[in-house]
Amino acid sequence: MLDLLVRNATLADGQRGVGIAVKDGRIVEVREGLGLAGDSAAPPAHEVLDAEGLLVTPPFVDAHFHMDATLSYGLPRVNASGTLLEGIALWGELKPLLTAEAIAERALAYCDWAVARGLLAIRSHVDVCDPRLLAVQALLDVKKRVAPYLDLQLVAFPQDGVLRSPGAIENLKRALAMGVDVVGGIPHFERTMQSGAESVRVLCELAAELGRLVDMHCDESDDPLSRHVETLAAETVRLGLQGRVTGSHLTSMHSMDNYYVSKLLPLMAEARLGVVANPLINITLQGRHDTYPKRRGMTRVPELLAAGMTVAFGHDCVLDPWYSLGSADMLDVASMGLHVAQMTSQAAMRQCFDAVTVAPARLLHLEGYGLEPGCHADFVWLQARDPIEAIRLRATRLAVYRRGKRVAETPPATAALSLPGRPGRVDFLQRAGG
Ligand code: FE2
Repeated sequence: MLDLLVRNATLADGQRGVGIAVKDGRIVEVREGLGLAGDSAAPPAHEVLDAEGLLVTPPFVDAHFHMDATLSYGLPRVNASGTLLEGIALWGELKPLLTAEAIAERALAYCDWAVARGLLAIRSHVDVCDPRLLAVQALLDVKKRVAPYLDLQLVAFPQDGVLRSPGAIENLKRALAMGVDVVGGIPHFERTMQSGAESVRVLCELAAELGRLVDMHCDESDDPLSRHVETLAAETVRLGLQGRVTGSHLTSMHSMDNYYVSKLLPLMAEARLGVVANPLINITLQGRHDTYPKRRGMTRVPELLAAGMTVAFGHDCVLDPWYSLGSADMLDVASMGLHVAQMTSQAAMRQCFDAVTVAPARLLHLEGYGLEPGCHADFVWLQARDPIEAIRLRATRLAVYRRGKRVAETPPATAALSLPGRPGRVDFLQRAGG
């Protein structure tokens, strides 16, 4: 007896009429026609979900977030200039006012939003430059509390610079010892290019020694000469960390000389560097010193993908010192990434959907992610027929499943018209051309 049988689902790769069989929290079978009328081989199930030909996908994954700052917008004031640097200064003003309870409460509220949106795995940076490690303790507690329904992976993030901020390296090591998962960094915030490069070396060596993954804020700058990504890739190769290191933001690549980038990309590919672009944040933060034309400031996503790298889109911030909007909707993130990178071909739009699902799952090294037998029975039923339509509509998450159990549901989006001679109900799903 199955626990759950999903029938008549469309998958992200275009397969239609697919059934997904679930037992004990895992997917046991996936095949076309499973559970459809006339399929005598389908085992009985306690619960049957008719997906009505709509899209069922693995859950959304956010590869880059700041859970310790989220939902703090307006505390103690808002970011007037809209720049990264004022955001960091503002976070510095907020830090002494924080309590572990308030951080945990806001983080738990954000996790509720995430689950409602089908976002079931988040990699969050946590600032380790506060010697009290208040946020670290709070988020380790939150991680435990949300574990039944959301995978929260934590990065030890020295916001004020691991070399620049006194005691930061010791605090970072303490945070890792307490249970934080990943080694973070911020080389472009160190005082000189040289100390930025030194910070990359020190942090990669620490990760190699401790067997940890690395995810650094790297070159979040419009300065084309901010080239710490080169050091990050070279250190990755030198220490044998290929496939275990991620560079987040990499916005300086937008402004770099093309010849230099042609030399950089193969090095990054050799390091199998993961890349996270944060389109909502960088389209608002970057280019603030430009008059016109204003640079977009997002890293070179299509070129990185063409070079064979895994590229994810992160949300980065929601209602905090750096960003005043957001609602845990990774389709909003995918849509902005698609626009900023001009990824408008059919294949590229599908890559934008992958950038908020399978690509970040790979960067986080998530176990059992996907819609194949043996994977965790975690998935989202969307009010859309395919991934492109899901992005276009920021599709309603009709139901969200975790380990085979329904953890959230939202009524289908619809609108009623009061127009003479026109149908009363509006359906935004596309019909023409299939
Ligand atoms: Fe960030």
